[in-house]
Amino acid sequence: PRKIIIDTDPGQDDAVAILLALASPEEIDLLGITAVAGNVPLNLTAKNARMVCELANKPDVKVFAGCDRPLGRPLVTAEHVHGKTGLDGPTLPDPKMPLQEQHGVDYIIDTLRAEAPGTVTLCPLGPLTNIAMAFEKAPDIVEKVQEIVLMGGAYFEVGNITPAAEFNIYVDPQAAHIVFSSGAPITVMPLDVTHKALVTTPRNDAFRALNTPVGIAVAEMTDFFERFDKEKYGSAGAPLHDPCVTAYLIQPDLFSGRHINVEIETQSDLTMGMTVADWWGVTDRPANAMFMGDIDADGFFSLLTERLGRL
Ligand code: BDR
Ligand code: CA
Repeated sequence: PRKIIIDTDPGQDDAVAILLALASPEEIDLLGITAVAGNVPLNLTAKNARMVCELANKPDVKVFAGCDRPLGRPLVTAEHVHGKTGLDGPTLPDPKMPLQEQHGVDYIIDTLRAEAPGTVTLCPLGPLTNIAMAFEKAPDIVEKVQEIVLMGGAYFEVGNITPAAEFNIYVDPQAAHIVFSSGAPITVMPLDVTHKALVTTPRNDAFRALNTPVGIAVAEMTDFFERFDKEKYGSAGAPLHDPCVTAYLIQPDLFSGRHINVEIETQSDLTMGMTVADWWGVTDRPANAMFMGDIDADGFFSLLTERLGRL
């Protein structure tokens, strides 16, 4: 199995991404989870991450708290999408498992230094603050990263927090710039992909029909989370953004895209956090990311439902 660190700001879709990883030990060896401020403040994302592990009956997973704000800007949160707790929908008990004492950034650094070079994949599901901070603090770890598979950005689908920017990149554009210019191999799941991974009513019924605590909780998370996209965009259901990352590690052929140059806008107020993706190859800037554009949504949902059923 592939060794990974999930860096996350749960978030209902982050929660499903974590559950998918925990349900797939043959493909994924989850070394640890680092929480970051994003959808909601850090104290809540660090708590939610542990609630999700306990929901999956995996209280031994190591969960660390990382950065509580972006590198150079005030924190922007998304309670309007995820609710006050970040994980509105199901009623889950407060976590009993401990939060690790070490700072999440130091955990990322120590893990990349301790494991064999090229064997650890980073999976950021929120703003890239922790990853950028680790790269700034310990530049030697960059070349040890096997791959960064992240959810963030958009090209054809442009923005969901501003007309130009996707939430995760918008919240910490400086961090995103550090990561995208680091030289580490990057695979991106942008809105172009995740807006095709929609939990339609039959798909949510399939989660509920698992009739397990996990299946029911995921259906309840979706019931809450889908309101925003349904009401605002008239979409057919909630987009499962972050689980695209963990699904890719299990079944990469569900996704297709292009290896292209992606730069991050960090200057203009109007387009702050935009992922300027050279999809058509109109510049000679070197490719730095595998930017996904399409997903086999039915294949994705059958994988996800089958795996959630294992928990
Ligand atoms: C991203 O923003 C968050 O609200 C979601 O959890 C996802 O990571 C989508 O833009
Ligand atoms: Ca997220």
